[in-house]
Amino acid sequence: MFSNFKTSCKNFLLKLQLHRIFYFLVRPSLLLSNTLKLSKWISDNKTEKNKKYLNFLYREDLYQFVNENNISNQPLLYLEFGVFKGDSIKWWLSCNNNIESAFYGFDTFEGLPESWGDYKKGDFDATIPNIPDTRVQFVKGLFQDTLPGFLGQLNSNKKIIVHIDADLFSSTLYVLTTLRPFLKKDDIIIFDEFFVPNDEFSAFEIFCRSFYIKYELLGATNNYFRVAIKLTN
Ligand SMILES: C[S@@+](CC[C@H](N)C(=O)[O-])C[C@H]1O[C@@H](n2cnc3c(N)ncnc32)[C@H](O)[C@@H]1O
Repeated sequence: MFSNFKTSCKNFLLKLQLHRIFYFLVRPSLLLSNTLKLSKWISDNKTEKNKKYLNFLYREDLYQFVNENNISNQPLLYLEFGVFKGDSIKWWLSCNNNIESAFYGFDTFEGLPESWGDYKKGDFDATIPNIPDTRVQFVKGLFQDTLPGFLGQLNSNKKIIVHIDADLFSSTLYVLTTLRPFLKKDDIIIFDEFFVPNDEFSAFEIFCRSFYIKYELLGATNNYFRVAIKLTN
């Protein structure tokens, strides 16, 4: 009875075509909703074990902590999405000198494929970094075009570190869902802009709900700007 009433109300509201007047509310209401979710996520994921590691000042301090406690020079498959000039991939290359490690950096190298906040489509265009280390390769193009072919040829059981620094909701969600069949327990995902509620955080939240992902928060930089998580299933 009540559900019939709800359906009638919904039908009535849809017939009114409310979007013609109220569409401007979509983004702010999404932002409010995702900010509330992020706030709850922060409180749900703070534990006795990680509370000392949630306030690193610089991202390199977070990387160092993750590396020392979860990797310590074992062979890695390091996948970075959003390379730009290569600062973060260079850091990981210099801290892991295992000759069996493989590092891949994915980027259009023509900048963002969509505008993002104050950044315009095409911002962050850069030339492919020239790094004298045979363990690193760069894959140029949209993730949506390059990742399926790359994964089709992948044959690796190394520990995977996924570093997501692509800023956009669409890019983050695409990468996470496409990588899902290749990810395993104890693999690590690092987000570079986690605290943006409608983008990396929202994509991660939808990914976890859709694939029943279980994970542990390892650490974060100040105010959850960047976070590192470890998969537990
Ligand atoms: C903030 S920059 C990366 C910065 C870099 N990790 C560093 O620490 O110096 C974001 C990058 O993501 C790339 N990007 C975002 N979405 C993409 C997509 N769908 N395909 C390929 N590249 C993408 C952009 O080209 C841009 O270079």
